[in-house]
Formats: sequence, C-alpha cells, structure tokens
Amino acid sequence: MSLLKIEDLHKIYPNGTHALKGVSLSVEEGEFLVIIGLSGSGKSTLLRSINRLIEPTSGTIEFMGKNITHVHGRELRELKTKIGMVFQQFNLIKRRSVLANVITGKLGSLGTLQSILERFPDSVIEEAKKNLEIVGIPEKADLRADSLSGGQQQRVAIARSLMQNPKLLLADEPVASLDPATSNSVMQYFEKVNKEFGTTVICNLHFLSLVRRYATRVIALKQGEVIYEGQPEEIDEAWFKKIYGEEAEEVEIR
Ligand SMILES: Nc1ncnc2c1ncn2[C@@H]1O[C@H](COP(=O)(O)OP(=O)(O)OP(=O)(O)O)[C@@H](O)[C@H]1O
Ligand SMILES: [Mg+2]
Repeated sequence: MSLLKIEDLHKIYPNGTHALKGVSLSVEEGEFLVIIGLSGSGKSTLLRSINRLIEPTSGTIEFMGKNITHVHGRELRELKTKIGMVFQQFNLIKRRSVLANVITGKLGSLGTLQSILERFPDSVIEEAKKNLEIVGIPEKADLRADSLSGGQQQRVAIARSLMQNPKLLLADEPVASLDPATSNSVMQYFEKVNKEFGTTVICNLHFLSLVRRYATRVIALKQGEVIYEGQPEEIDEAWFKKIYGEEAEEVEIR
C-alpha cells in the first residue's frame, strides 16, 4: 500500500484558473519526492491539496489507506497531525522564543487552557529541546525567533514540524529565500529527517542541482499536468527544455 495515492486531481480556483488538470501519483513510505516545474505550474496547489490548505475540485487523495479528499472537522485535525509542513517564509512567531516556536508544533495535541497559560508539560519542553538538537541549534532555544538567520529560522521550522512526529513532511520551496550555501545546509536536515526517522518528504524545489542531490524521485508539473516522473539523474538536457522551456538554461548551485 502506498503512503499517498492521488488520482485524477483537479483544482479550479474560484476565478476560473485550472491549476491542476488530472494529476495522478503515488508516494511510497520513505521516499524523498521532489516536485519541479516552472512558476505557476501548480506545485504549491498540489502540496496544499494534500494537507487540505485548499480544497480540491475533483479527484481523490488517499493517505495511509484512507480517502482524505474531503475530510473535515475532527478527521481533518487528526490528518494535520500526521502531515507536517514547512514554508518558504518559515512562518515563525517573530517575537517569541525559538523554544516556544518549536512547542507550537505540538499545540494541536495540547489543551487550549494549557497553551494559553503556557504551562507546558516537562516532557513537551524536553521534546522541543531534543528537536532543536536534531537541527543543530540547541543553543538558540531562548533567543527571539527573529534574531536568527534565515537558515536557522528554517531549521526551527523543521524542528517545529517534528513535534507532530509526522508520517509525511511537505516543504514548499523551503530554501527559496536562502543563499546557496545555506540552502544546502537546510536541505541536509530534511535529508536527515528522511533517512534517520524514515519520514516521507515531498518538497518543491527550483534548483536542479539540489534536486539531483536530495531527491529519490522527481515529478515535473507543467501547466497543471505531470509531464515527467523518474529518477533525478534521468533529467537530461532534452527533458530540462521540455520542463522549463526551450529558452531555459541551467543554473548551478552547490
Ligand atoms: N488562490 C488562488 N486563486 C486563483 N488562482 C490561483 C491561486 N493560487 C494559485 N493560483 C494560480 O494557479 C496556478 C498554479 O499556481 P501555484 O501557486 O500552484 O504554482 P507554483 O508552481 O507553486 O508556482 P511558483 O513556482 O511561482 O510558486 C497559477 O496560474 C496561479 O496563478
Ligand atoms: Mg509555489
């Protein structure tokens, strides 16, 4: 059984934009799947459909053997505890401490009163500290989130997502705001989570050099359709031009 199975997924936004046109794909447990494609090809729409930040128009999404295409209420909240998400802009609470930000990854499963009073169980605080160690910045726990560099903030976001113990981690261009060296260092933490905990990762990326280095499989979207599915090393010049257009040229980042 695949961890995730998407069949004939369509998304038409209220303004009529047909962003996904019959996308079908399966993801096996433990994969590091990277989605590529030009700006506007539907990468974010696809990721956001999976954790239901947006509602698909038609088609089905199965996750862990269950049809989740239109779940809502308690079932949706439950689903969201199994799927972590990391965004390009980190989405941290700027004025709060790094540790507090990591703990918010757990809030779904803590009582509201507990959260308001900020009396977190010691076990949760310990877990947050452990997750900061996993992303290599335990010493930053007490600093304000916005005092960290972009790369460090993204590592906090990864630590926050780990608080849920997700089965699946979605990352929407997680390194697009970072310089090349920092991009690589952040990607290494996704790889670590994937390899050490077996967490399945689906990640949108722009740079093919990063795709080749981290992806176990690649899917390319073009105008809302899957036009390539295969190994990163099979993306040759001809495929590159099909995916990105005749005019495109590859830019290396190392
Ligand atoms: N909320 C929305 N309302 C209407 N159209 C939208 C909305 N969000 C995205 N779109 C459109 O849907 C299409 C796919 O957008 P999407 O953001 O999924 O692309 P993307 O591949 O993530 O692009 P990028 O690389 O620029 O992030 C685009 O034509 C976009 O303009
Ligand atoms: Mg996008």
